Amino acid sequence: MKHILDELDQRRADARLGGGEKRIAAQHKRGKLTARERIELLLDSGSFEEFDTFVEHRCTDFGMEKVKTPGDGVVTGWGTVNGRQVFVFAKDFTVFGGSLSEAHAAKITKIQDMALKTRSPIIGLFDAGGARIQEGVAALGGYGEVFKRNVVASGVIPQISVIMGPCAGGDVYSPAMTDFIFMVRDTSYMFVTGPDVVKTVTNETVTAEELGGAKVHTSKSSVADGAFDNDVECLLQMRRLIDFLPANNQSGVPQWPSFDDGERLDASLDTLVPDNPNKPYDIKELIGKVVDEGDFFEIQATFAGNIVTGFGRVEGRTVGIVANQPMVLAGVLDSDASRKAARFVRFCDAFEIPILTFVDVPGFLPGTAQEYGGLIKHGAKLLFAYSQATVPLITVITRKAFGGAYDVMASKHVGGDVNYAWPTAQIAVMGAKGAVEIIFRADIDDPAKIAARTKEYEQRFLSPFVAAERGYIDEVIAPRTTRKRIARALAMLRSKHVEAPMKKHDNLPL
Ligand code: HXC
Repeated sequence: MKHILDELDQRRADARLGGGEKRIAAQHKRGKLTARERIELLLDSGSFEEFDTFVEHRCTDFGMEKVKTPGDGVVTGWGTVNGRQVFVFAKDFTVFGGSLSEAHAAKITKIQDMALKTRSPIIGLFDAGGARIQEGVAALGGYGEVFKRNVVASGVIPQISVIMGPCAGGDVYSPAMTDFIFMVRDTSYMFVTGPDVVKTVTNETVTAEELGGAKVHTSKSSVADGAFDNDVECLLQMRRLIDFLPANNQSGVPQWPSFDDGERLDASLDTLVPDNPNKPYDIKELIGKVVDEGDFFEIQATFAGNIVTGFGRVEGRTVGIVANQPMVLAGVLDSDASRKAARFVRFCDAFEIPILTFVDVPGFLPGTAQEYGGLIKHGAKLLFAYSQATVPLITVITRKAFGGAYDVMASKHVGGDVNYAWPTAQIAVMGAKGAVEIIFRADIDDPAKIAARTKEYEQRFLSPFVAAERGYIDEVIAPRTTRKRIARALAMLRSKHVEAPMKKHDNLPL
């Protein structure tokens, strides 16, 4: 028996070495951790249970039968994050660059199936060069199996992809179908084809960083939802994110102990909105003062800053927050902001996370650049997402709610359950100046008349009371009471139940 146990230990030790000490040293030299070190950091200490440690590839082309590594370039299994079960797979770059063989794919799909069966979140740690070139179509078939499962699981269990090295081909397409993608700055890249292929095909000379670094994907392409400075910080932040997420679409949001009173008032909010309606203020200050302990996990912080999206908690329970940001482009809705918020709203709705919407929006951004870029379709995505949402929707208008953007931003008309306005709210078709110049065009050359008309318009429409008179706003509230009002509304809405008409699926304006 002893020698059998010794053999098991030896085999395990060999598997743990992956591609060998030299390649592990190279991985460390690049500032990257190994697949197993990453899993250890991500999961609660000692909680990892591994699957398929001894799986090997079956390829016999190009002398591959002579180079087999137990585990075949991916470490898979399950464990816990702060006591909650998750499944995980981590690509091992030291084994054929983490590339995917048929056997490697089968390890991942086994984990995907287990995660779905047990309705647990799945996290993929990517550091991999796509399909294993020596295996050809068998590897492509493997990716197809992974992709299909990504889609079947979408909206059932949270799927998170963490990009922690150079990733190409299938190792960017699978992440693209998951809920969130996070990257590590300076050591991770995502591209369908790398710089060498780009040079051959388009004659463009571009570095990996310029083509698909964290900066590109968090500020230009919006492929990634956030980036962190190194592996350790990234994995610790993933633990924080998982704490916000439900285990699945039927589990409800997690309930954590909270030491922040739901009835807490904050007098500083009474002076948050400046007297001058054109002066910006930071909507994140409001978010920080409303959520428990000021803890806010922002999604896509460096893309479309004119809208803020992310997770917080109220009385220990997760909420999704969408807020126009007056500090960036006056909080206007453009194509990027609409797409960003629409995707976030749909995630929250799929996983039964209530949505808080803070509104200060001067409208949609005019201009050819926006129109040619499809503002109508992108704006419609957000309108569609809110209109379709059946989770509790609580809206607070802090200042401007102009034009179509008023309707879009979780107004009563598209399904808002509890719609509040601060006394500083201005709910109208447009600002007073623009309105007067259109409806009193005949007086345009008479500044006194225009000034009087502008004042008249401001008094009549630039307040929350016209909307409140019609019941479009449920109550005009003192800013200091915002958290209390929200906490009470969330508690009231916990039993919200809406039956949508039967259909196969909708036709979202993609
Ligand atoms: C087999 C691979 C590999 C691959 C890397 N390696 N990619 N082996 N198949 N796809 C091996 C290398 O041979 C090398 O082995 C080791 O991994 C490390 O790779 P390096 O090139 O030395 O590392 P680096 O310079 O950091 O570059 C990493 C890389 C590059 C950017 C990922 O290796 C690369 O461009 N690889 C090919 C990417 C690619 O085109 N993949 C196919 C995509 S098609 P040794 O023994 O020297 O350590 C695809 C199909 C699905 O994925 C598409 C679905 C839509």
